[in-house]
Amino acid sequence: MEYQYIQVSRDGEVGRILLYRPKVLNALNTGLISELVQTLEDMDQDPTIRCILLTGGNRVFAAGADIGEMATATSAELMLSNQFADWDRLRRIKKPIVAAVVGYAFGGGCELAMACDMIVAAENARFGQPEIDLGIIPGAGGTQRLTRAVGKARAMEMVLTGRAITAQEAFSVGLVNSVVPAENVELEAMKLCQLVARKAPVAVQLAKESVLNSFDTTIAEGLDYEQKLFYLLFSTEDQKEGMQAFVEKRRPNFQGK
Ligand code: HXC
Repeated sequence: MEYQYIQVSRDGEVGRILLYRPKVLNALNTGLISELVQTLEDMDQDPTIRCILLTGGNRVFAAGADIGEMATATSAELMLSNQFADWDRLRRIKKPIVAAVVGYAFGGGCELAMACDMIVAAENARFGQPEIDLGIIPGAGGTQRLTRAVGKARAMEMVLTGRAITAQEAFSVGLVNSVVPAENVELEAMKLCQLVARKAPVAVQLAKESVLNSFDTTIAEGLDYEQKLFYLLFSTEDQKEGMQAFVEKRRPNFQGK
């Protein structure tokens, strides 16, 4: 398939997507988001892919939604075009996605990184929601996922002042998983992906679902849901294989069934 705004490759069982609009710091226009989401859905359907790495390359992750594309839009146009339909599809991807963030992750770029399941950040990474300086607010999770990730005080400060946080601050508040030198970010993200890719795929999928469910529900409902998924996994061959391998002191060979 031909892509205009992304590049797609794979490394074994890990699918890799590179955001590719280098001249505008990977500004997320609707075409890019549409290609990205379609590719994520394709990878989600592909049984030979078990984890997905999303990167902006070695200079920048993404400097936000494409301001040029939005500048003259009206409320009605944005609403009628269902501006966030593709972002909603992104939320339904079942395989884990690891973001490799170098440089700016601003606005929609920060929101895209937060929509992923784990983030490996470069020492020079900056996470920010500068929408307030454009006279708007975040629209793809910047007031929701950010608040859940970093807490009210920090989220309020970032959203109300537009001030970005460093990779180290992001690490200390739990927004990112690790901070590494820029030249190692993709390697570390790939290692994380490969680690996940070796696990039992159905368990991985349900684990992601259960963790995400915890943000949408009460603790009691979340615990009930987790128990149901736990029971469900005992219907998989991989559960039998995983436990048998432990007993036999060998590495499990998971088949995804
Ligand atoms: C369109 C962008 C862009 C963006 C950068 N560019 N960000 N184009 N949309 N979000 C373009 C610039 O116009 C410029 O093009 C080129 O990329 C390089 O950018 P510079 O500004 O020259 O680079 P630099 O001085 O290094 O500054 C980097 C920056 C700055 C601090 C990240 O670019 C910046 O503040 N960008 C906007 C960040 C932002 O406000 N993001 C939130 C967008 S709203 P030319 O042609 O001049 O070389 C949003 C809402 C999300 O994300 C809603 C849900 C989708």
